[in-house]
Amino acid sequence: MPLAQVAFAEAFVALTDGILLTDTTGRVASANPAAFRILGEEKLLGQVFEELLLISGATTVEQTDGHLVRRAWFPREERMGVLEIVSTPLPGNRAAHTVRDVTAQAELLRLKEEFLMEVAHELRTPISALIASLDLVVEDVLTMPREELERLAGTLRRSGLRLEHLVENLLDAGSIEAGTFQVRAGPSSLRHALSEALAFVQPMLESKGQRLTTVLPPDADRVMADERRTTQVFANLITNASRYAPEGTEVTVRAATADGFVRVTVADEGPGIPADEQNRLFQRFFRSRQVREQAGGLGLGLAICRAIVHAQGGDIAIESEPGRGTSVHFTLPKARHLAEEAGD
Ligand SMILES: Nc1ncnc2c1ncn2[C@@H]1O[C@H](COP(=O)(O)OP(=O)(O)O)[C@@H](O)[C@H]1O
Ligand SMILES: [Mg+2]
Repeated sequence: MPLAQVAFAEAFVALTDGILLTDTTGRVASANPAAFRILGEEKLLGQVFEELLLISGATTVEQTDGHLVRRAWFPREERMGVLEIVSTPLPGNRAAHTVRDVTAQAELLRLKEEFLMEVAHELRTPISALIASLDLVVEDVLTMPREELERLAGTLRRSGLRLEHLVENLLDAGSIEAGTFQVRAGPSSLRHALSEALAFVQPMLESKGQRLTTVLPPDADRVMADERRTTQVFANLITNASRYAPEGTEVTVRAATADGFVRVTVADEGPGIPADEQNRLFQRFFRSRQVREQAGGLGLGLAICRAIVHAQGGDIAIESEPGRGTSVHFTLPKARHLAEEAGD
């Protein structure tokens, strides 16, 4: 065989996509090793290719420029995989076929669609609340008692805040992924960051009859951090504590100094997190199987908290035991004393 032809055949051997040639009768005349592996057949040669596809229930996806693209399910290690088969006619009534395992792409597409559905779902709740309140205002604004108007304004603001929080989380998740996430750390007050977060989470705690206890000693107040970001960390963690714990429980926020850092803990009396899921909590989109059905969410909060805390030189960890609640600890560098700051 001429050298070029040998190299060509070798390239087919090394290829990860399956390649098959069928003869004038539609039977497989040659196939590279990947074709055998992907189709899971020991005897491919001589088989009618269309019959093989028939068995796997292939359906046509598209037909362009003389290529026929089909997809089929096939058994893979644990569950079904997706195969894409592209068939191209060759001169003399023969044909070339490539078979490719596209399970990973199909899975990604499914996750993306699922994610879009969840985003839409998450947006709908505050938007419906917003519209309902606006409708009342539009109908009765002239006759409405002042207290009623104030209550409605409160609801409108909360819905607005919730939407803002959601959109910020989405944008942050995007910039973390793109590597453009930024924080602006400076001397700031932990107490102040927390009180800003409370404006956001208080209604949620109230609606579930949950109590928030804070232990913030004065020496653990000043940190080197982006205050708006610290607020975001508190908002995410307290939202989790409230959302995943039952009604009437207590949420505790505690801070203490330790080795040049302030260590903050947000603890709840919720269901806890199974041990086998604990190392995945900071992954984007990860949501525990326990909560997925019962509470909304996008699985972004903890990933964002970690990005914020890490960007400021701190660390974040979860301590949880099923049935015994969850504690999230994070650290922020302690700011030097005010007098020292002023001194240089
Ligand atoms: N305080 C908590 N108690 C129980 N489970 C929690 C708690 N905080 C987080 N989790 C689990 O971690 C997952 C990821 O949390 P997060 O990143 O905030 O996303 P989301 O809250 O949108 O699901 C949650 O879906 C839940 O399964
Ligand atoms: Mg959350």
